[in-house]
Amino acid sequence: MMMPASHKKEYHNAFPGGYVDHVLRVIDCALKLNDVWTEMGVDDSTYTKEELVFAALNHDLGKLGDNEYESYIPQTDQWRKDKLGEDYTFNNKLAFASVPDRGLFLLQQHGIKYTFNEMITIQTHDGLYDEGNKKYLMSWSPEQKPRTALPFIVHQADLMAARIEFEKEWLPKFKENTSKNFKLDANSSSEKKVPIKTKALSSVKSESLKNMLNSL
Ligand SMILES: [Fe+2]
Repeated sequence: MMMPASHKKEYHNAFPGGYVDHVLRVIDCALKLNDVWTEMGVDDSTYTKEELVFAALNHDLGKLGDNEYESYIPQTDQWRKDKLGEDYTFNNKLAFASVPDRGLFLLQQHGIKYTFNEMITIQTHDGLYDEGNKKYLMSWSPEQKPRTALPFIVHQADLMAARIEFEKEWLPKFKENTSKNFKLDANSSSEKKVPIKTKALSSVKSESLKNMLNSL
């Protein structure tokens, strides 16, 4: 319940509860995008709303880990915690599997049946960010293209949710850094500029000489 959506802070929602927050956002985005796709003429009889929600809900299930090991465990390397801000690290005890493969494995392992549409959608939810999806998404042959728009809708929803999560976390940080690092208005500088003449006179010990020089 409290797992993050990723283990690196550069990725999205790498905080406690980030996974559930992300998945719920993907479901919301998918339902909204579904309206746009159907309004624009896509054939929504090729999938059901239940399939849409099921695929969105389980698209990242494989991030969980398996029955023995969680994927994301607390970072124990203090240097990486302090310097890189990493609160989590990937659990190397877990045998490698892609996120969609592990997700589908977990569903069948727990006796949760899924439809063909749900399988293709979970499998390809990363779109062409995952080269393995080319066989489904880059075929020139009409026979090999998906027979439903569901994979595209859920992929877009995932992209949209991750972008929103990035903006929520990072745009305020960039704003803060900009005002700290760049003084856009020279007059706003907190350091008061000391005129060169005043600086030079401060090194003169004799008061009378200082007065004389100051009047020049
Ligand atoms: Fe996702």
